[in-house]
Amino acid sequence: MDHFELRGGVMHAEDVPLPDIAEAVGTPVYVYSRATLTRHARVFREALAPLGTPHIAFAVKSNPNLAVLRVLAKEGYGADVVSGGELDRALAAGMKPEDIVFSGVGKTHAELVHGLESGIGQFNVESEEEGYELAAIAERLGKTADCALRINPDVDARTHAKISTGKRENKFGVPIDRAAEIYARLGAENGLHMRGVAVHIGSQLGELEPMEEAFGKVGALVRELRDAGCSVTHVDLGGGLGVPYKADDAFPSPVEYGAMVARATKGWDVQLTFEPGRVIAGNAGVLLTRVVRTKRSGNGPPFVIVDAAMNDLARPAMYGAWHDFDAVSPSGDRMTAHIVGPICETGDTFAMDRECDALSSGDLAVFRTAGAYGATMASSYNSRGFVAEVLVDGDRFAVVADRIAPSAIMDAERVPEWLD
Ligand code: LLP
Repeated sequence: MDHFELRGGVMHAEDVPLPDIAEAVGTPVYVYSRATLTRHARVFREALAPLGTPHIAFAVKSNPNLAVLRVLAKEGYGADVVSGGELDRALAAGMKPEDIVFSGVGKTHAELVHGLESGIGQFNVESEEEGYELAAIAERLGKTADCALRINPDVDARTHAKISTGKRENKFGVPIDRAAEIYARLGAENGLHMRGVAVHIGSQLGELEPMEEAFGKVGALVRELRDAGCSVTHVDLGGGLGVPYKADDAFPSPVEYGAMVARATKGWDVQLTFEPGRVIAGNAGVLLTRVVRTKRSGNGPPFVIVDAAMNDLARPAMYGAWHDFDAVSPSGDRMTAHIVGPICETGDTFAMDRECDALSSGDLAVFRTAGAYGATMASSYNSRGFVAEVLVDGDRFAVVADRIAPSAIMDAERVPEWLD
C-alpha cells in the first residue's frame, strides 16, 4: 500500500496535490511519501517479529537520500552500505555506527580504514583476500573488525540476470563449499572477529523458494562451522524481497517472507540481520514528469515524449523494467503510446505500446514504484543535470535534494591552459 492516490481527480502524495510540487520545484522530480516509508518499515519489522528482534539494515543503495535515511533511522533501522560515500550518508542521517554493515566485493583500503575508524557493526567480507587486508589494517589501528563471511550459495534467484548475485559464476562472496576453511583461516587472524555468515542472492525476487534454498545451505554451513569448533553468533540474510511494479502483480508478502525465514532458521540460535531496500522504498516514491509533446511517426502508436529520461530513471533502459505510468489528472480517456524521454538514443524508452491515460503536451504524469533504484542511479547523460527529490509528510513537503543544473556540473570541469 502506498499514499499516491487520486483525490478529486488529481493525484496526491499523502495530502499534497502533485501539481503543487511540479509548480514549486519543476519537473522531473522524485516525490517520496514519508507515511509510506514508515508504513513499509513497520510492516517489514512486524513480519519478522516471530524471529525475536532481528537487526534491520536498510540497503542504502536503493535510496541514499539523507531525509529518507533519517526517516528510517527514526524507525530504528540501521544501514547496509557498500561504499565510503554510503557509510558517510548513513552516519550523517543519524544511524548508529554499530547498526551499520559494510558489504561489497571491492571495498578499498581507504574504505576499510574508514569503516574501522567509524566503529561500524560488521564487515561482510566477500573474499579471503579482503579478510587478510582488513585484518592487517585492524591490527595496525589496534582494533578488531567484527566480520561475517559472505558466502555464495550457488542458487539461482530466478530474477533478472543483472541483479542476480548468488550463482557460482557471480562475483559475490566465497563459494559455499570453501567457506568453512576460509572462515577458520580468517578466524585465526588477530585483527578479525569472525562472528557469522552473510548471504544475498539477488534483488526483486518474486519467489521465496530460491531464498529458502540458500538459507538452508547457510544453516548447514552454520552447523558445519560449529562442529569444527568455530563460533557463529550472527547471520545476515541480505535483502532481495521483490515488489509489484504492476498494480495487479502478486508478490510474496513480508509476512510470508517472515514465516519462511522462521522456518528456515529454526534452531540456529543466532542474531539475524536483514538488508531490505526495494521492499521499503520502492513503492514510497514516484517520478513526476511533464509531457513535452506527443508526436506521430509512421502508422504505429504516438510517442509521448516526457521531460524525464533514462538518465533520471535508468531501470527501463537498463533492465527492461516496467513502471506503471499514470496521468496526474486523468480525463478517463485512454490511449496506447510509446513513452519516451528526450535523450538521443532509442534506449531512452520507458514503455512501448503502453495502454495508459490519454496525455497531451503539458500534462503531468508519474512513473510509479520509483522510490528504490531511481534517483540514486541517475546520471547527467546528455548534459541534463541531476533530478530533484521531494519528501512529503502529510500536507507539507520539502525539497530533500536540489536539482543540480547542467551548469553546476560544467563548473566542475576545466579546460587546461595548454589547450589554448
Ligand atoms: N544487500 C546486498 C548485499 C545487496 O547487494 C542488495 C542489492 C541489497 C541488500 C538490497 O536488495 P533489495 O532488498 O533492494 O532487493 N539496480 C537494481 C537493483 C540492484 C540491487 C543490488 N543489490 C534495480 O534497479 O533493480
